[in-house]
Amino acid sequence: MDLPSAWLEPIVRVQTLSDTGSPVIPDRYIKPLFQRPSFNTQSNNQNIPIIDLYELKNGCATAQKAVMDQISIACREWGFFQVVNHGISDELVDGAREVWKEFFHQPMEVKQDYANTPKTYEGYGSRLGIQKGAILDWSDYFFLHYLPSKLKNHKKWPSQPPFLRDVTEEYSKEIVRLGKDLLRVFSINLGLQEDYLQGAFGVDDIGACLRVNFYPKCPQPDLTLGLSSHSDPGGMTFLLPDEHVSGLQVRKGDEWITVKPARHAIIVNIGDQIQVLTNGIYKSVEHRVIVNPDKERVSLAYFFNPKSDVLIKPATELVTSTKPALYEPMTFDEYRLFIRTKGPQGKSQVESLKCS
Ligand code: OGA
Ligand code: NI
Repeated sequence: MDLPSAWLEPIVRVQTLSDTGSPVIPDRYIKPLFQRPSFNTQSNNQNIPIIDLYELKNGCATAQKAVMDQISIACREWGFFQVVNHGISDELVDGAREVWKEFFHQPMEVKQDYANTPKTYEGYGSRLGIQKGAILDWSDYFFLHYLPSKLKNHKKWPSQPPFLRDVTEEYSKEIVRLGKDLLRVFSINLGLQEDYLQGAFGVDDIGACLRVNFYPKCPQPDLTLGLSSHSDPGGMTFLLPDEHVSGLQVRKGDEWITVKPARHAIIVNIGDQIQVLTNGIYKSVEHRVIVNPDKERVSLAYFFNPKSDVLIKPATELVTSTKPALYEPMTFDEYRLFIRTKGPQGKSQVESLKCS
């Protein structure tokens, strides 16, 4: 199946809608009742685990093991955690967020030069999924490729503000380093060879792509979502959240937990491909984004993915007679078509891979 080379209906920038100052949002953004966020926050003192990675690089064997154990628990119980002392400097983290905020604050004509299509999704976009008449999310985004190198094209990255390309390049390099470190930790924690997951991801041909999300102010935040519930289709995601505005919610049982980011933290979450590779030991967890009446929000979601054409299937070592393979093999290229066609749909896609 091929994705179309143009959107099937006109694209409306959510930022433009927000800038009109209208007190009501268009019907297309109004979610059915059961999907709407609840702003009743009393049970929400919970947070996802915060893990300090300092000792992983600098500590003795015992201290390293302690950090790895925290990561193991977070992967099994939450599928989501935030890391601090991750080795990416505060200046770079702040700089990356800042250049992208500036990008979205440029005039619309500048951004329109990068308007994307559903064919590759690269560039400035305002929807996921192509279905005509679908109910949409209250956000715009910019999507770009970093790896594999053959997909990276600086001309498709914004030329303004001036340092955006350099800062994004440097930030990307650090994220890939962190991604490789964590694949090693996950492999060891699962009792696999330490290079198992990196190998399953395609060794040096992994994919890394960035989606910068921009959530404009919304006059009726109780009727809509900035990003509908979904699990990330790829391997794992590194999310740099807005420093000032919360919005990410993670599903824990029947509750939605609002993530309270630690300063300069990066949020890590397991994607569907790692759920499949670990035969369900690690789960990709549903999450969504709520929006705000008086504050916009920006986040950088870095997707760390397997090479697009390798078959992803449960690791043989994690398949036993009592725990048979739970998922059918599939390449990430094929898998990714689902969200690109249908948009975010909770966990329905990974469920559909289940062996019958
Ligand atoms: C995503 C995502 C969360 C956020 O881009 O997949 O879940 O806080 N983003 O923007
Ligand atoms: Ni996500």
